[in-house]
Parts: sequence; C-alpha cells; structure tokens
Amino acid sequence: MDSKQIRKEFLDFFKNKEHKVVSSAPIVVQNDPTLMFTNAGMNQFKDYFLGNKPIEASRVADTQKCLRVSGKHNDLEEVGFDTYHHTMFEMLGNWSFGDYFKEEAIDWAWELLTEVYKLPKERMYVTIFEGDQSEHLEPDSEAKTHWEKHLPLERILNGNKKDNFWEMGETGPCGPCSEIHIDLRSQEEIDKLTGDKLVNQDHPQVVEVWNLVFMQFNRLADGSLKNLPAQHVDTGMGFERLAMAIQGKTSNYDTDVFQPMIQKIAEDANVKYGEVAQTDVAIRVIADHIRAISFTIADGQLPSNTGAGYVIRRILRRAVRYGYTFLNTKEPRLYTLVPLLADQMAETFPELKAQQDFVAKVIKEEENSFLRTLENGLKRFDTILASKLSSVSGKIAFELYDTYGFPIDLTMLLARENNMAVDEAGFKEELTKQKGRSKSAAKQTLSDWNIVEEIEGTEFVGYESLTSASKIARYRKVDQKEGSFYQIVLDKTPFYAESGGQVGDTGLLISGDEKLKIFDTKRENDLIIHFTKTLPKQLDSSFEAIVDKTKRRLTENNHSATHLLHAALREVLGDHVQQKGSLVNEKSLRFDFLHFVKVEAKDLAKIEQIVNTKVRENIALYEQKNVPIEDAKSMGATALFGEKYGDFVRVITFDSTYSVELCGGTHVNRTGQIGLFKILSESSVAAGVRRIEAVTADGAEQQVNGELVLLSEVKEILKHPKDLKKSILSLIEEKNKLEKTLEALDREKASGLKDHLLSTKLDFDGGTFVAAKIDIPSADLLKQLSFELKRALPRLILLLGANINGKPMLSVMVDESFVDNKLLNAGEIVRNMAKEIKGGGGGQPFYATAGGKDVNGLEAALQLGKAFISEKINLI
Ligand code: SER
Repeated sequence: MDSKQIRKEFLDFFKNKEHKVVSSAPIVVQNDPTLMFTNAGMNQFKDYFLGNKPIEASRVADTQKCLRVSGKHNDLEEVGFDTYHHTMFEMLGNWSFGDYFKEEAIDWAWELLTEVYKLPKERMYVTIFEGDQSEHLEPDSEAKTHWEKHLPLERILNGNKKDNFWEMGETGPCGPCSEIHIDLRSQEEIDKLTGDKLVNQDHPQVVEVWNLVFMQFNRLADGSLKNLPAQHVDTGMGFERLAMAIQGKTSNYDTDVFQPMIQKIAEDANVKYGEVAQTDVAIRVIADHIRAISFTIADGQLPSNTGAGYVIRRILRRAVRYGYTFLNTKEPRLYTLVPLLADQMAETFPELKAQQDFVAKVIKEEENSFLRTLENGLKRFDTILASKLSSVSGKIAFELYDTYGFPIDLTMLLARENNMAVDEAGFKEELTKQKGRSKSAAKQTLSDWNIVEEIEGTEFVGYESLTSASKIARYRKVDQKEGSFYQIVLDKTPFYAESGGQVGDTGLLISGDEKLKIFDTKRENDLIIHFTKTLPKQLDSSFEAIVDKTKRRLTENNHSATHLLHAALREVLGDHVQQKGSLVNEKSLRFDFLHFVKVEAKDLAKIEQIVNTKVRENIALYEQKNVPIEDAKSMGATALFGEKYGDFVRVITFDSTYSVELCGGTHVNRTGQIGLFKILSESSVAAGVRRIEAVTADGAEQQVNGELVLLSEVKEILKHPKDLKKSILSLIEEKNKLEKTLEALDREKASGLKDHLLSTKLDFDGGTFVAAKIDIPSADLLKQLSFELKRALPRLILLLGANINGKPMLSVMVDESFVDNKLLNAGEIVRNMAKEIKGGGGGQPFYATAGGKDVNGLEAALQLGKAFISEKINLI
C-alpha cells in the first residue's frame, strides 16, 4: 500500500463508522496562549473537550499537520539521528465528543490495523495506564478488559503516567491512554528477545504507532485535575510510522513518504544515501526539516527573530548547517526542494502547491542570509582555534549557537576535529539562562477560571449591536510584571475580539453605579475574553456591556477599506496578490500581500483612485452569515491560508463583481462612510511580501490637511511665488551655482595662504619649519594646504593653527625622516597642543590633526608645539 492509499483507507474506515472527515487545522496556532504550533490532532477540538463550545459533530476523523519542536512535546534534537522522529508529521486521528468511549475506540483501532492494513497481530503490543496514587488515578481496567478480546494478556503491558497519561501541555484536556506498539524486527532477533522488553525503550524497530487517549480531565493551572463535563476519545496515529510498518521498512525515511526527497537531496549533493552515517543524518535532517519549514511558511508564519518565527528560523538553520558541513552545500539549496514536496502533498495539503513560489522565495532569502552568517561563525571559530585553548567554553558555544546559529552537536563536532573539548554543561546553563530571561520578560501567569455560570460558548451580538444585557460566566486573574488584571467571559457580548487583523473592542461594563472599563478583547480558541483592571463588586449582577462606538466606527472604516484595497491590488497588479497579514485599528490600516517587486508610484496612484471611486459609489455592505464554505468559495470569496474555517462561514461583499471575502470582522454599512482613502507608504516586509499602510476618513483628512498646511507654509516662506515648483527648482539651481563660486573663491584664498606661508618658512639645519595661525573655510582645505606645503618644502615640520569659521583646528605634519629616527611624532605633538584649544585628536606619526572648543587657544597651542619640537631639534 502506498502512503496515499494508507491515508485514504484510514479516512474511509472512519467515514464508514459515521465519522465526519474534516480538514487539518493550520500548523501555526493563532488563538491559544498555551501553544505555538499544532502539536496534536486534538488541538483544534480543545474547546469541545472543555465544554466551551457546543459539539457540532460527535464523531470526527482527519489527518493533521503537527509540529513538535517546542513546549511539552519537542523532538527536534532527535530528528536525523534516529529513524522515526520528525519535526513535522501527519497525525491520523479519530474523535468521539461525548459519543463512543473505550470499547469502540479499541475495537476499531484493532480492526483497522489488523483487517484493513493487515498488520501481523502477533507483532503487536498494547499498553494501558497502571494508575497513579499521587494523583488518585485508578488503573485502566476497562481498557484492559477490551484489549483482552484481541490480545493475550502477556502482550497487554502496564504503563506509567509518563507514557500512559496524555496531556496536551502544562494545562488543558488530558486523560489515561492506551498505546499500540509494533515490533518490526527480524524473526531471528525476536527469538532472542521478545518485544515486550523493548516497548517504550526507544528501540527504532519496536515503535508506538497509535495512541488512544480517553479524555476525562482538565489539568488546571494549580496542577490539579478536574473532571471534564463529558468523556471523549482522542486518538493519534503517526502516519509516517504506520507507513513504515505497512511497507515493511525499518525506517520512516525508507517509505514512499520520504524516499523521493531523500533521493533528490542525495543526488543534488552527489552522494548516496545509506553509505556514510554522517551524510545520512544530514540527508534525513534536510528531508524532515524542509517539510516543517515549508508548511509553516505556507500557513502564514515567516521566519523572524521572535516567537514562532524564531523557531522556524532555527529549524531552517539547522538544515542549512547540516547541508553545509556534511553535504558541502555552500549555496542555497533547500528552496529547490519545495516543488517536489508541494507536488507530493498536493492532494492532501493543497496550500503548499498554491504558494510554492512564494515559499521557495522566502526560504532562499533566509538561506542566503544564514550562509553569510555561517561564514562569519566559522571565522569566529578560527579565532577560537587560534587562541589555542584546550576547550570551548559554555559561553562561546552559546555565542556560536545564538549569534551564528550553530547547533551544539555541530560545535562539538568542529571542536572534536580540532582536538578540543566543549563545555556542554556550561552551554546548557547559558541556554537555560536565556530561556529564563525571555520567559521572565514576557511571563504571564494565568490562574484557573472561576465559574460564575456554566455556559457553552459566548453569544456574540456585536455585528448588529454595540450594547447588550450580559451576565458574567467566568473570570480569572492574570499576573504579570506590569501589574495584574482580570479576564472576563460573558454569556453574551457585543465586544469584538481581536482576530483577522482587526483589533479588539474597548468599552464599558456597567451595573448600577459601577462602571468597569474593558481595555481590550481577545479570543482564546472559541472564548471571547474581556480584559479589565478590576472586578465588579457583585459578580452575578446583570450588566450592560457597551462598546466604544467611536473607536469601533473608525476601525470599521479601516477594515472595509482593507477589503476595497485588496480588490484594487488584484485589479491593478494581478491575481497573484494574496493577503499575507493585516492590522486594522482606529488609526490606520496595514495590509501585507504577496507581490515580488516594489509597487510603482503610478500603480499606487491607480490603486488609491480605484478605492476612492468605490468609496464614492457608496456601496452597501452585503453580509451573509452561515454560508457553506464550498458555496462561499464558488462565489469567488477569497480565503486566507493559515486561517481555520468551519463548515459555515461569513461572507462580506462590497459589490459582488468587486470584493467578496470570507471575513469575521466588522464593517461599514456603506462604503461612503470611509470618506477618503489615502496611502501613506509602500514597503517590503520579507522576500515577496509587500506592505501598504494607509488611512481613511478623519485620519485621511488629517493627513491631507497636514500636507496642505505644510505646502502653504512653504509658499509663505517663498513669498507666494506664482509657480512654486519652478521657484524651488530655480532656488536649487542658484544654490548649486553659488556653491561652485564659493568653492573657487576658497581655493583662491587657500592658494594665497600657501604663498603667504611659504614666505614665512624658517630654514634650519636639516629641514624647513613653518608655524602659523590662519583663517581657512574648511577642514578639507586645511588638509589640502598642509599636503601642498609638504610637497613644496624639503623635510618640512609644519604646525598650523586654523580658525575654521570660529572653530579651532590643529594640523601637524612631520617629514618621514624625523619620524623614522623616532625623533618626532605628529600624533604626540598634536595631542599636547590640543589641550590649549580644549580638545583632542591624533593621527599618524607623520600627519595628525585635532579639533577643539577654544579658538582663543590657537596661539598658545602653536607656542607649545614649537617648544616641544625645539626640545628635540635645533630650529635655529
Ligand atoms: N493526543 C494524543 C497524541 O497526540 C492522541 O491523539 O498522541
């Protein structure tokens, strides 16, 4: 069975068991403070488990793009070295939300593996939770009973909390789990040692393929477990491992999921996979990492210096570094792998194919810049070698890691090749320190929710109304460095929570005389969370929730203008323009989009003009709620990559032939309200991503008025010329002419000065001496004059004290012959003299200058210089 068939059989199997097959959520998590990337299939269903959202379908199955590179589940360091860990992998999963439980989950898993995939029963082991006294958790005897139907007792093994109690993160849904392991070793090896001894022992051929989690608890922030409102099933099967088992391979990388990529990487590097251990590791690292990098970029996360972007940057650098060291790849090459991956995944994850060129471009630019850093890092390593230390300290290893992107394993290798040790413990210490630094800088401690009233999700009324009668459903305290605040969930709210680029609403929560200010509104999965500094006295009172109308209206102007802008960009620049991010608030709008070159001024003008025309057409908003996603797409609505859409979506249309978008934001009723649209700037954000910043309505008016005021001030200054532009141009021309005349005059003056100075020269035995105070227009001319005098006079010693438009400057020149016999040093002389003009300076032994503050000290400085020289040389 090839991998496509394996995936299909899984989804078909559960479809037949009345599961709804859904699509993978984006790999980058947007509205969950506990997660950066999707690390399990269940993430997108978290709110169903917690009871925060009404269940739409009680049986669901899918294949989910997962990334385990940060937080509780992190496999990054293993990847490449072993044959079965990955950064990005696909997790096949089936779910029951309050529907079936352990029995069906177990029976169906067994049926699928043994009857559909025909995996050998006798090579299978299962583990069940043995219980945990400290948490008051019983052994999972129920799971055991069900497994006994399928396997003999000796292949049902007990497992501890680490292996058999699954948790998503530090907090959140969790429960006992039962894992299915398969022994893929040769019969000969099995005869020597039975597989049960190798389960969960990190053996590359005795591996877990499927994890069945029985979700029963919520892990709270205080560490305790709370029963969930209902019992659920969450299963996750590693697709790549399953392919290894079914295809009879001993490594995930030998399956058809990875082989085409492995072969291409090997071919490009002119090596063979499977011959040299180190080369193989590098090839596996690249074959794995290119998937993680490509899919996260396709889901909207660009490499950057913070957060999720930084994690991606590090993964990319790890891949480049391995290629550089072991495959001799000194030029960007990762990006050339994108088309192969995109084709391979096109059927299941079309988002990569659709953005292939963009993704490749981002990767290429990132590779280019890192390869430059890498060269510098290697130079830095050479300086470490040159210092002849016997070991690389933790600090230096950390510097190589942090500044130059050297993974520690490669620093160790470089060190070993040069007979040096690495202080690994010291490195880890530095790493922990850094983590601590960034954690404490951003640390927010969330306490557990206090429930005032049980609700299944908040009713959002903010599209129709800016006020509502509301009750508080739950609240919690948030502690952070800048002071604590509270988060409140209401049963019903008009407050729009920040999403889709639109900022959250602010406003008031009123009960009787009491007024609470809501200073922000955000989303956490499906909860709408209101931020407030204090809590109301009476939590269970009735409240009136009131949104700040002015702010909302101004924000809406900018949001609707963003839609008009998006359509205008596509009209003027082409259909390749895609939204890559936006920020819409009451002041301005920012729109990032895919486009490979700078937008020319004439196109910007055209875009602005189209938007303003649409504004003046005063188009009415056409809002459609609950449109089936497929219908919305066939209406031509633009969907964004990296957004999670449900089956039903909201469609916002301003003229069905002009702008149709899937959007959850709030909008103007008619475009005329936008008043005026004005582009402020166009710039580059990353490879292939441009940014337009613009203002509307009052903001645009202010912008235009500001510029008009400036213009009239300029006119005023120029005494109201008839043709302003012509007048400025002629001023510039005149200025250029005057500058030229002035330069000529200066030169003339300097040459007069030179003649004068030549006449004051003093001949002494062995050379010429000139010392004088002069007026000169610039430091450049002073330098020029000094060198001209040197050319004109034999073995010159020159001391000039110049007054340059009221500022003192000293110029000292000493013929090389005096320098060579170490008699004089211009730098030393000028430093001494500079004290007299309250300044300092220096230069070379034969020529040095100094500036200062006191022009009246020039005479004294010259005296001092002369005295200094007289001590060494007889000037008479
Ligand atoms: N949540 C479990 C896991 O990730 C099963 O899906 O292993």
